[in-house]
Amino acid sequence: MTSLLHMDASASGCGDSITRELTAFYADTWRCLHGSDGYRYRDLAADPVPLVSPAFVSLGIRVERHGAVPLQKVAEMTAGPAEEREWTLTLPLIEEMRAAETVLIGVPMYNFSVPASLKAWIDRVTFPGAFVDPGTGDRLLRETTVVVVTARGGCYAPGTPREDFDFQTPYLRAYFTELGVAPQNLHFVHAEMTRASDVPALAHFKPLAADSLAAARTAVSELARRPAGSGTATRMR
Ligand SMILES: Cc1cc2nc3c(=O)[nH]c(=O)nc-3n(C[C@H](O)[C@H](O)[C@H](O)COP(=O)(O)O)c2cc1C
Repeated sequence: MTSLLHMDASASGCGDSITRELTAFYADTWRCLHGSDGYRYRDLAADPVPLVSPAFVSLGIRVERHGAVPLQKVAEMTAGPAEEREWTLTLPLIEEMRAAETVLIGVPMYNFSVPASLKAWIDRVTFPGAFVDPGTGDRLLRETTVVVVTARGGCYAPGTPREDFDFQTPYLRAYFTELGVAPQNLHFVHAEMTRASDVPALAHFKPLAADSLAAARTAVSELARRPAGSGTATRMR
């Protein structure tokens, strides 16, 4: 069965968030094609993943020292209730990620980077060895498709004055490729200049914002119709 893990990180609610609108459009399209059985949703802003604690770190270090540890053995390696609690919080996130053929994430730009709610998920799910086969060393996410849908109040497209302020896309590209996602299965869709309608100084960028949003909708619709893992390297604007 094909599967989609859909996550949103915008602090804004459905009616006000561009990323939520775009990821919902993707998810609706995907469910029309595949049904709802393989669909999972996680709202990282409304239901935040707890920040990692000293017990998370101590458990992770102990597991790393053992080398390759199967996930099902980690519970036996916990030392006390605090580490048990950390593992109880962490394991379902890892299993959810490993089970997904496609991971769809709505990511607003906050202060040139990603929201803290997404960073909290990243820090927790990236437990030592979580995405590597302990027997073979194979990376488990090679076939996983990741679609990142961003929205930014300004514009950070190549060639624009703010291009070098984008610590969101390069960070997530580095993170997911390092995690084992194949570059051709990692897709970015950007809605630029989303604050043009609210900020008077940006009003003259309204046409750019409208074009960018329309292009993002087209890109999302196209990606949602693709079979998982069939990617060619794309960088959509
Ligand atoms: C806390 C916060 C920080 C933001 N920082 C930036 C920023 O650094 N650069 C930018 O272009 N827009 C910034 N914005 C604007 C958002 O990126 C923009 O409103 C985007 O559409 C938010 O995504 P959403 O519509 O899905 O909520 C920020 C907005 C908030 C609420």
